Amino acid sequence: MLREDDVKKLVGELSEPFLHKPLNELDAIKEIKIKPEKNHVSVKVALAKTGTAEQMQLQQSIVNTLKEAGVNTVGIRFEELPEEIISKYIEGTTESKTLLSSDKQPVYLAVASGKGGVGKSTVSVNLAIALARMGKKIGLVDADIYGFSVPDMMGITVRPTIEGDRIIPVERFGVKVMSMGFFVEENAPVVWRGPMLGKMLNNFFNEVDWGELDYLILDLPPGTGDVALDVHTMLPSSKEIIVSTPHPTAAFVAARAGAMAIKTEHEVLGVIENMAYYESVKTGEKEYVFGKGGGEKLAEELSVPLLGKIPLRQPDWDEEHFAPSVYDRSHPIGEIYMDIAKKVDEKVV
Ligand SMILES: Nc1ncnc2c1ncn2[C@@H]1O[C@H](COP(=O)(O)OP(=O)(O)OP(=O)(O)O)[C@@H](O)[C@H]1O
Ligand SMILES: [Mg+2]
Repeated sequence: MLREDDVKKLVGELSEPFLHKPLNELDAIKEIKIKPEKNHVSVKVALAKTGTAEQMQLQQSIVNTLKEAGVNTVGIRFEELPEEIISKYIEGTTESKTLLSSDKQPVYLAVASGKGGVGKSTVSVNLAIALARMGKKIGLVDADIYGFSVPDMMGITVRPTIEGDRIIPVERFGVKVMSMGFFVEENAPVVWRGPMLGKMLNNFFNEVDWGELDYLILDLPPGTGDVALDVHTMLPSSKEIIVSTPHPTAAFVAARAGAMAIKTEHEVLGVIENMAYYESVKTGEKEYVFGKGGGEKLAEELSVPLLGKIPLRQPDWDEEHFAPSVYDRSHPIGEIYMDIAKKVDEKVV
């Protein structure tokens, strides 16, 4: 039979669902009664809020914990924690840190395109890193929950850690990263049904401990589909950057993404033309392999600035800090990203 101390230890390790602290630490176990002849234990527990779903979950956990320890029947009563305990712990709790509900909102920057494969993810990653290089606090959400690519591009090999019920994002190059890729087994395909998409994103905003951020950058999936729309409705204040290649058809399709942003009253900050040209390292000559003028045309059509033109070129790979899509600050394209980041930051403030 368990003794009072055992019960206190077992139940006390469970977490208070609102303050996210062990019950023992909150002195929340108010009473323990043991009837050895019936192998029965009853406890009285104080919570920040009673009569909630959280209470029911905790109730179940207490019952399970005690039964696993050999108890036959369990009785539980709840009461509310004293106000001073609640206010003491509520301030430092992660609850107040959720992004969508916190006072200081970051600037939400969605990177969109009409077409796939134009470099949204590459731009998102490098713009995030460039802003971090400017000293900004940056979060990056890989909102492409089917075709997530950000972790690989940044050479991230670890997964987020869990603290209590909060997810701590992975940080690399000064950028805090969250991706669906962290939640699936290696190379397993992900099958989500419609409503899950928005839900997953919502979790990325609310369950992740981002800390304080200046910018939260969202790498959107291609096109103008569900997720892009979800982001628009979920983040009414998000600003948008449209990526396009210089080819006129790409620019046409990108205009649709821009039109969607405008229709949903999102400010388009500007256009980035990616894969703008190829510059020969030997002669310095520029070749416009994907055509010319698409970025300007698109910017004009949307009445927004062309924030930059990024030529075709790979980053220099460094075995030690392997990140296949990240340009060094001193790489010519790294410099272009710094320039774009400065323009973005100037436009936003
Ligand atoms: N400026 C560039 N120079 C050379 N390669 C580039 C450049 N920009 C992007 N790429 C390459 O092009 C491919 C597509 O880029 P990326 O994955 O960023 O596009 P995307 O728009 O996010 O694609 P998706 O629609 O599939 O999400 C990648 O292999 C990337 O490394
Ligand atoms: Mg992508």
